[in-house]
Amino acid sequence: MEHHIVLGIDIGGSGIKGSLVDIRTGEMQGERLRLATPQPATPEAVADTFAQLVEMHQWKGLVGCGFPAIVKNNVALTAANVDKSWVGVNIADALQRSSGCQVVAVNDADAAGMAIMRYGIGKGELGVVLIVTIGTGIGSALFYNSQLVPNTELGHVILHNMPAEHYAADSVRKRQELSWEDWGARLSEYLRHLERIMSPDLFILGGGVSKQFEEYAAFIKVDTPVKAARLQNNAGAIGAAYYAWQQTQLL
Ligand code: BGC
Repeated sequence: MEHHIVLGIDIGGSGIKGSLVDIRTGEMQGERLRLATPQPATPEAVADTFAQLVEMHQWKGLVGCGFPAIVKNNVALTAANVDKSWVGVNIADALQRSSGCQVVAVNDADAAGMAIMRYGIGKGELGVVLIVTIGTGIGSALFYNSQLVPNTELGHVILHNMPAEHYAADSVRKRQELSWEDWGARLSEYLRHLERIMSPDLFILGGGVSKQFEEYAAFIKVDTPVKAARLQNNAGAIGAAYYAWQQTQLL
């Protein structure tokens, strides 16, 4: 088996996406496959879909898995956009049982952030870099001089009496059919709030909506520079693969 190839799988609120990743370059090998996230997204149902995706890649080696929750030592400590029964579950064990592969789990935004900082637009950026991933929810990955501070969960800061992700996530834009201008103004408000509490040197926006950055860039009014991630929706899977590889090197 080639040790520089790892399967990266990104479990999201609506889709579970996977790709083989060459850790040396961060490039995806072969096809990127996606299955819908089962609803309700219980541990059993998600573990089954995960195993299907592993099988579709005909993979037997190491798998890195991005998961949308606080993840400490592979255990999910929260569950905002997946079934609540995930809280307290060892994600790696559950997915290992269903797929037969060795699995390492990491917060999905932290995974995306690792890929962006290592292979993407964040490469070489020092100081405080705050990566915000925008999708079904809002995730965050905080880096100081390229070192990750894990599980920051800044999508849950309170804005207008609600978790910010209920106000400014991309799922809210779609559900409420907001114009780019209206949604961009909400995102701007959110970033201004983060600017006040975190004083970043750079914001990087990730998640699927980062590829439409031109649509709303003009409505974002913050003093900190803002860049859009170029790895877009693939960063989660690429970063999860890299994270898993890195963890196994540390053992
Ligand atoms: C979760 C985070 C996750 C983010 C993006 C939030 O609801 O709490 O852990 O990173 O969604 O998926």
